[in-house]
Amino acid sequence: AIERTLSIIKPDATNRNLTGKINAKFEEAGLRIVAQKRMHLTKEQAGKFYAVHAERPFYDELCEFMASAPVVVQVLEGEGAIAKNREVMGATNPADAEAGTIRAEFAESVGENSVHGSDAPETAAEEIAFFFAGLEIVG
Ligand code: CMP
Repeated sequence: AIERTLSIIKPDATNRNLTGKINAKFEEAGLRIVAQKRMHLTKEQAGKFYAVHAERPFYDELCEFMASAPVVVQVLEGEGAIAKNREVMGATNPADAEAGTIRAEFAESVGENSVHGSDAPETAAEEIAFFFAGLEIVG
């Protein structure tokens, strides 16, 4: 089925001017960027987005990092987009990511891992609604 998923190009990647190279990976995999905006999140906004991780030991560091520089938030659309995006991103820890994936090529560490992608249909819907109004998504 055609799905939509929420993607974030993280501060480590925007700092290194990698937005275009990462977007090319999505497009080469058949994902369409149907919404996109660059934002500088506050730590509070990052904390709200990652609320499911609030009890994890890395939560504070994660929120600081996500607010440290601009991010690019995006909606990706395509056949099986949620799983396909996760394939293109590679494993969370770049040391485990397969060759050719975004994290294998660009990520610096498990925390500064260049991209975020929704993990399931329910979270994709929630995460898209967190950042985008319906009218901003142009399929
Ligand atoms: P993401 O897919 O954005 O979802 C939660 C993020 O927490 C994850 O990517 C990682 O960047 C980050 N994360 C996971 N594990 C660790 C860790 N051990 N230390 C720091 N950050 C982590």
